[in-house]
Amino acid sequence: MLNVALPKGRLGEQVYDLFEKAGYPCPSVKETSRRLIFENEAAGVRYFWVKPSDVAIYVERGAADIGVAGKDILLESGADVYELADLHVGVCRMAVAAKRGFRDDPRRTLRVATKFTNIARRHYAAVGRDIDIIHLNGSIELAPILGLADVIVDIVETGTTLKENDLEVIEDIVPVSARLIANKAGFKFKTEEIERLARELRTEETV
Ligand code: PRP
Repeated sequence: MLNVALPKGRLGEQVYDLFEKAGYPCPSVKETSRRLIFENEAAGVRYFWVKPSDVAIYVERGAADIGVAGKDILLESGADVYELADLHVGVCRMAVAAKRGFRDDPRRTLRVATKFTNIARRHYAAVGRDIDIIHLNGSIELAPILGLADVIVDIVETGTTLKENDLEVIEDIVPVSARLIANKAGFKFKTEEIERLARELRTEETV
């Protein structure tokens, strides 16, 4: 039985469809209930709905053999897991954004609001820029508008949120998409099963 942590929400539903097409169906997953665990013994799979930012932890700790997490979550958490495939869904980018027309004054400490404090710290450390991190949990775009921060480090998908709030990307950090990840020890015991699934998912991507 393969234990699979799926990211709860719209991305998770897209990801489940990929697993289903790859030969790992479990129709009850799509029931609108509050259940979090779904199993299809015949297909040898058990799915859990996990908060997207927690998937890497479940997999790293072995509560799930495999899972699907955004590259943003993997970079931020630094989870010690195998990254087996890029599923080419949930495609977006991590970027620095600011109020339209913002000019950085290198003599001042830059105030950076973000959920992704590790990614932001690494990004600015690499260029030797002195920053003050302001950790927020959501609606990050508000911070520069209200003068809480100079810039934000956040996910940009369509760019609509930035546009509707008079913000613009000033720098790209890294492209992001959903990745298939595996627990390192679990991979040793279930190598064949996991590799077969990864192969089927990779085939699915190209169909
Ligand atoms: C994410 C991100 C941006 C938005 C970007 O927020 O933090 O706010 O999506 O998408 P767009 O470029 O297509 O407008 P999310 O919806 O995850 O909510 P959050 O405010 O809790 O971060």
